[in-house]
Amino acid sequence: MQILVLHGPNLNLLGVREPKIYGRETLDDINARLKARAAQSNTELRIVQSNHEGVLVDELHAARRAEFNGILINPGAFTHYSYALRDAIAATDLPAVEVHLSNVHKREEFRHTSVLVPVCIGQVMGFGWRSYLLGLEGLLNYLSDQVPSAPTKE
Ligand code: DQA
Repeated sequence: MQILVLHGPNLNLLGVREPKIYGRETLDDINARLKARAAQSNTELRIVQSNHEGVLVDELHAARRAEFNGILINPGAFTHYSYALRDAIAATDLPAVEVHLSNVHKREEFRHTSVLVPVCIGQVMGFGWRSYLLGLEGLLNYLSDQVPSAPTKE
C-alpha cells in the first residue's frame, strides 16, 4: 500500500516553533516514526512538507493519478480556511485523515473550524506527535477493512 503524508505550512519548524504547544519532536523525528510504523504494514509513504498551498494541491492531484490508497494530512493553518485543499482532497476520492498536534478546540476561536474535515474520514488531535501515529493507525485500519475478502467457494 501507498500513503501520501502531507505536512502544511510552518510544520518544517517543529521542534523549535512554540514547543509548549507543539513539543520538541522535529518533523524528521515524526517522519521516521511514521515510516517505521508503515513498514510494519508493508506500506510505503510519500512524505511532503510545504508552506505553499498550491504545492499541496498539486501533490493531491498527483496522488489521484498514482496508485495511492490514502492520505494523512496535517494542513496547519490551511485547515481553517483552504477551500482549495478541501476541493483537492475531495477530488482524490481517497480516504484522508486530518491530524493536529495540538487540541485546536482549546485554542483561539479561528482554529475551531476545519473546512477540510467534512471531506476526511476522521480527525485526530491533541496528542502531540502521537496524533500522527494514531491517525496513521486509523487510516491503516480503515484501509484493511476495505480489502475485499477472498471469494468463498459455493
Ligand atoms: C496545527 C494547528 C493549526 O491551527 C496551526 O495553524 C498549525 C498546527 C496542529 O498540528 O496543531 O500550524 O495544525
